Amino acid sequence: MPSDLPEQSTSIPRFGFSTRIGFVLAAAGSAVGLGNIWSFPAQVAENGGAAFVLVYLVLSLVLAYPALVAELMIGRYGQSNPVSALENLPEDRLWRPVTKVTAIIAVLMICLIFSFYSIVGGWLAGYTLAPLFESAMPDTASWLKTFAPTRNFVLAVAFIGLTLAIVNGGVQKGIERWSARLMPLLVLLLIVLIVAVMTQEGAEEGLQHYLIPDFNRINGSLILSALGQSFFSISLGVGAMMVYGSYLKRDANLPGVALQVCLLDTGIAFLAGLLIIPALFVALNLGVTIYLPDGHLANSDTLVFEVLPALFNNLGVMGIPVALAFFSLMSTAALTSSISMLEVPVACLTERGGLSRRKASFVICSGVLVVVAVVISSFDPLFSMVVNLTTGYAQPIDSLLFCLFAGWLMGRDRKLQEIQKGWPGVEHSLFWKVWPWYIRLVCPVMIASVFVLEHIG
Ligand code: TRP
Repeated sequence: MPSDLPEQSTSIPRFGFSTRIGFVLAAAGSAVGLGNIWSFPAQVAENGGAAFVLVYLVLSLVLAYPALVAELMIGRYGQSNPVSALENLPEDRLWRPVTKVTAIIAVLMICLIFSFYSIVGGWLAGYTLAPLFESAMPDTASWLKTFAPTRNFVLAVAFIGLTLAIVNGGVQKGIERWSARLMPLLVLLLIVLIVAVMTQEGAEEGLQHYLIPDFNRINGSLILSALGQSFFSISLGVGAMMVYGSYLKRDANLPGVALQVCLLDTGIAFLAGLLIIPALFVALNLGVTIYLPDGHLANSDTLVFEVLPALFNNLGVMGIPVALAFFSLMSTAALTSSISMLEVPVACLTERGGLSRRKASFVICSGVLVVVAVVISSFDPLFSMVVNLTTGYAQPIDSLLFCLFAGWLMGRDRKLQEIQKGWPGVEHSLFWKVWPWYIRLVCPVMIASVFVLEHIG
């Protein structure tokens, strides 16, 4: 059985995480990224504030958390890339083509996610570099910040290049080192900025909008958006957490680390909203156009890039260093996420296709670049179509299937043994009484009903 193989007995040695906290930080590094700081606040602003926040928090704990345990468990049990892990999961061979095709679709979807992510990551890189050129070369600074196909492409290439460089360095050296150092700094800076924004005019109104829910806003489409946002933010449903699970040590407590990752990710999203929603109201006060007359966001893809610079400008002399610090930390957070995206197809190509790590990552990045070029050439409507297809549909649906696979195709004993490795007493815990049924029935039914609800309004 694959789970009984010692760590190094597969034909290609698996990289591993050296410490438990290293893993939590790396998985949280995958989870914390543009989803938290770019898309979460925009979704809050688009979907009526606190009502969305509330639904998002509930779904993250009630649906994303159990699904994350399932995905990590499949990965660690399989000790291999997602395609092999899922293919070998069912006891009954008849199911293998089904699980394998699901895995292949998931891998293709993560490549699509990587392409739109690189475009936004590129914008972020542009805003990071811009303050450095502001006084000496203002034209360059404004080129970096102005939405245009060439600039979008050049910066996306740079972002992909950086991701490639880190992934080529291998898991331990690359991912772990980067995540562990910079995440605490990001949290610290968020807190400092929240304090700074609260002193400005309009912030209080923003705070109310963020924290006091209007329950009338909750409907099918808000719940579906919150679900997609939550799964995107926790990197679920496309094999990223499965790969990370396969790199995880045998004695790690899966439900425990999953909970830590979930709480860290949701906590950082909440903090980011606490900064950006009040900042958005400050910007409104300053006359920046944010909402259209019909109540929709004028430009949800670039909202954060309009709101934050307005805030930084308001900070006087501190504005430039603060902007620089914020955008560089954000770029790092985006990179620790994008490396987890590239890691999935790379693990598949190296382990199943026999390619070297370097070759595999070049092949994938070239493919992703082609998609990036196509999306940029026809940004409207392709960009939002790709975002919608991957985060709105593929991630929740794939995640539903992963829960079903872990629930029905992997026997109770195999699940128990896998989880017991890091939590010997789990059999007598509340977790074990609830979770196996939860992923067999409750998660799939709830995810499916969100889709049904959306379609009946
Ligand atoms: N969760 C990350 C974020 O919030 C993005 C991310 C990283 C991701 N890896 C992923 C999303 C895999 C989906 C699938 O920015």
